Amino acid sequence: MIARVVLLVAVVLAASCAQAQDGRALIGQGRMVFRDQGCYGCHTAEGMGTSIGPDLSRIGAKRNETDLTRWLRDPSTHRPSAHMPKLELTEAEIQALAAYLGSLR
Ligand code: HEC
Repeated sequence: MIARVVLLVAVVLAASCAQAQDGRALIGQGRMVFRDQGCYGCHTAEGMGTSIGPDLSRIGAKRNETDLTRWLRDPSTHRPSAHMPKLELTEAEIQALAAYLGSLR
């Protein structure tokens, strides 16, 4: 009985650990997409980039991941007057970017 409880705790711990690692991996991917997709050409984050668009260094404190995901899918549906172009991003890139930007606080 005790062995079973210990096993259950171990499984739950391992699962939550894997989830935290997934989260960090996604943030790392997002940072790469941010660089590769030229977001740096218009935005600053973590002390790098160009300040044509708003600074995104603390964007995670202002917008949550759902909100960021919607913005990245198409800025103009989110705000019709948006100057930011709709970028050709895959859904996976959008998820990674949202995780990355959401982590900047
Ligand atoms: C051609 C310039 C340009 C590029 C490239 C660009 N953005 Fe933007 N972005 C803007 C501008 C300008 C705004 C300000 C809002 C508006 O008027 O569109 C903005 C706004 C944003 C916002 C909302 C900021 C806020 O304060 O709410 C996010 C998030 C964002 N951009 C993320 C990105 C990401 C991620 C990329 C790369 C995939 C990217 N942007 C590429 C120009 C750009």
